[in-house]
Amino acid sequence: MSASQEVRILKDAEEMSRVAAQEFVRRAQEAVAARGRFAVALSGGSTPERLYRLLAQENAPFRAEVSWERAHFFWSDERHVPPDHPESNYRMAQATLLERAPVPPENIHRIEGEQADAAIAAENYEQALRQFFALGPGEFPRFDLLLLGMGACGHTASLFPHSPALRERQRLITAVWVSKFNAYRITLTPPVINHAAQALFLVSGRDKAETLRTVLARRTDIDEYPAQLVRRAAGKVLWLADQEAASLLSA
Ligand code: 6PG
Repeated sequence: MSASQEVRILKDAEEMSRVAAQEFVRRAQEAVAARGRFAVALSGGSTPERLYRLLAQENAPFRAEVSWERAHFFWSDERHVPPDHPESNYRMAQATLLERAPVPPENIHRIEGEQADAAIAAENYEQALRQFFALGPGEFPRFDLLLLGMGACGHTASLFPHSPALRERQRLITAVWVSKFNAYRITLTPPVINHAAQALFLVSGRDKAETLRTVLARRTDIDEYPAQLVRRAAGKVLWLADQEAASLLSA
């Protein structure tokens, strides 16, 4: 099953974040209306910070539109660091969104980056996902919304070029050694990413322009450009890019 893929180009990072917040609210309202809850996987890095702040902002049109008590927060990936570490994706989301919006603590399902063995963190998260989504053997969680970023090298989540995790077909989450950082990362696997009802990429900045053009081009080379794996997602794939990141896309 191929995904319906859409690319929207926005004037700048601020407008891109506002459109992303509109999408977040729409998906949350649809999920709660349909299933009584909203399961979202947050992405890390710096791009989504503005989105997270907007969603929690008291005088912006988004906060009041979300049933926070019915929203459950997961992560698409995490660094192998404690939750209070400057590089923690959980810490960034906590500071910009989760401690500013009325999210019940039991609705926050973080990856235990503090585990000495990253594989244990992955295994524990796998069990947490299986329990929350009441998964049977061979089943995958279906996030209502999966937020993703894209690195200038073409990675997404913590699926980096040539990573063995790109070939994972059974596990839901895995620990991967990332040589460029000399560190482990814990990341959702391709089947989980491709099982999401909607994947939403946020890509900003001129440094991503060349890679975005390649990733969106017809020729697929997932080993070189892991972000392309999401093109075959089962659900909808929406790319939001600012004009700088989209500057090399043909009209
Ligand atoms: C992470 C993210 C990663 C990120 C991209 C883009 O843990 O770093 O999950 O996939 O989305 O690297 O990062 P920026 O938004 O900082 O450019």
